Amino acid sequence: PPGIDPAAYTTVARAIVVFDKNDKPLVPSYLKAIESGLPSSGAKASKRVLIVGAGPAGLLAADLLNRVGHDVVVIEANDNRVGGRIKTFRKGGHENGEQPFADPLQYAEAGAMRLPESHPLLMALIEKFHLARQEFLLVDVEVDNPAKRANRTWMHINGVHMRKAEYEEDPAKINDTFGVTGPNRTRTAAAILADALEPAHELIRGKEGSALVEGWVKVLKRYGHWSMYRYLTEVAGLDTRTIDLVGTVQNLTSRLHLSFLHSFLGSALIDPKTKFWELKGGTAKLVDALYAPVKGKVRLDRRAVRIERGDGKVRVHTVSEDCQTGKGGATEVFEGDEVIVTVPFSGLRHVAFDPPLTYGKRRAITELHYDAATKVLLEFSQRWWEFTEAQWEEALNSIDDGLYTRYKKGQVRDGRYLGAHRTVRDLGVTVPGELKECFSAFRPAVLDDPAAAHVRGGGSVSDNANRFMFFEHAHPMEGSDGGIILASYSWSDDALKWDAYADEERYLRALAGVQAVFGRRCEVFFTTKCKTQSWMRDHYAYGEASVLFPGQHTELFPDIPTSEGPIHFAGCHTSIKPAWIEGALESAVRTALRVHTG
Ligand code: FAD
Ligand code: ARG
Repeated sequence: PPGIDPAAYTTVARAIVVFDKNDKPLVPSYLKAIESGLPSSGAKASKRVLIVGAGPAGLLAADLLNRVGHDVVVIEANDNRVGGRIKTFRKGGHENGEQPFADPLQYAEAGAMRLPESHPLLMALIEKFHLARQEFLLVDVEVDNPAKRANRTWMHINGVHMRKAEYEEDPAKINDTFGVTGPNRTRTAAAILADALEPAHELIRGKEGSALVEGWVKVLKRYGHWSMYRYLTEVAGLDTRTIDLVGTVQNLTSRLHLSFLHSFLGSALIDPKTKFWELKGGTAKLVDALYAPVKGKVRLDRRAVRIERGDGKVRVHTVSEDCQTGKGGATEVFEGDEVIVTVPFSGLRHVAFDPPLTYGKRRAITELHYDAATKVLLEFSQRWWEFTEAQWEEALNSIDDGLYTRYKKGQVRDGRYLGAHRTVRDLGVTVPGELKECFSAFRPAVLDDPAAAHVRGGGSVSDNANRFMFFEHAHPMEGSDGGIILASYSWSDDALKWDAYADEERYLRALAGVQAVFGRRCEVFFTTKCKTQSWMRDHYAYGEASVLFPGQHTELFPDIPTSEGPIHFAGCHTSIKPAWIEGALESAVRTALRVHTG
């Protein structure tokens, strides 16, 4: 489109691959800063640095600057927790230290859960802090042989119920239900998508240095203003039925209208070929490690509402939680030489700047699109998804003689067995009669209970409201036979359809959605202890992440990470890895270096 500064394409292309102005990779110097601290060469005298936000970006920047002698203060709105969108529901974690699940050993992720091995800064931090990790199983493995992929989790789409491995053998079983015809009828949704993305991939494959930047410039010039829907239609030539198939199975439907670039980058990463890690004890273990060295510098319950600069100083005006509702509470002004602002731009919309920021920055703050994401987590007293049929038989018949067969034959018609297994009582839970009665209304009515899943880890996909389901920290946990299901992980419009409901209203619906896929009998292990997180409704995150509209990369991004005098901007939205911790870490090192040597 007319009006785009031609340099914008190169700026964005370099940001995608994290190169400097000479097309040299920045990651080696960023890694050095993480591993051995900020460089002494070029350092300026000690400064008073304010950092707004104690998510991973703010905490890492604070640690880096603090270690080399700057006087840092981290200003955090939350009154009980640091970590931002890294949030583990765990004992003593936050929310007044309440135990979130019946089993105190259990924990689950409200936000970040899978850590790609291909993210170097994140891997370096995990190494540096010696954090215990285990593989995050995007694809399920055999219970008796975890080295072997099983691919036995479910696809539950248009009334067809089959295992992923079965779909790979015979894609037409599901593809036909969408009305897909021609050669794609017998190809998997993943293969159709991979082929569809090929024209864009070709522009960058195998390239390095300046040639790689040039390749990305071409991608941006051709498709930067396109939505994924337009790309799939006009470049890949897919018809609407095929797009619906691919969208439903590959989690694209809710984002088809958003930028091509976001889903293009995302689908390369969230892929069975990617190796992911998870942290034992939860992703918040990373936050604990980042927080420890700067704890004394972090001020909780201080929400920035105005940032002023003048007389060579910056002042951040803050209010406490109470003060926001006019109930009194505290106001406090912090003064420094420079400030690093890590607040998502969706939240900066409500922070005043005096004098105002540049037009480019203001426009980005006003228009940058933030996506919705919602998770619903349910606890079970046993990891029933690992069971064989024989284990099911034993467990159900231990509740009532012949119960296994009654479930099999669909003769259990209401929710009377909700939480009925003795292991639920052993956790101290008694399920009230009213809850069982209410649940009967949500419980899926017509369904042949499928065979035992008998898998460890992995995800299932459904076209019901739950959409994507994962088993949290899939590996056996010492001292606990229970487990948490991420019963629903949805994005964009899929997420907004959960957000209308209050937290407690999501649980029975989410359980019913799980039962529609895995069978009704799992209800006997339901502990009724659940957690949910809507990131769009979260008043510290103001959305899941900046998932841009078509064209916003070239129109808005160049103005996002630029400093304005003593005001620097960090956070994952200032990178081209929004919704990834790596993007937040990149931004922390970039701004810390800038403050230190600038
Ligand atoms: P945040 O973590 O949002 O931190 C910002 C901080 O600023 C918060 O502590 C907030 O309370 C504070 N703040 C906000 N407003 C103010 C104010 N006015 N004044 C003072 N303080 C304020 N990443 C991965 O790598 N892997 C994943 O699997 C993954 N999954 C995700 C799933 C979901 C559902 C979500 C939401 C995110 C996921 N992420 C994942 C992304 C990752 O969590 C973020 O990229 C990362 O937390 C961003 O860090 P940040 O410091 O930029 O922002
Ligand atoms: N990093 C997040 C995850 O692993 C989200 C990535 C993209 N988010 C989105 N709404 N498109 O799930």
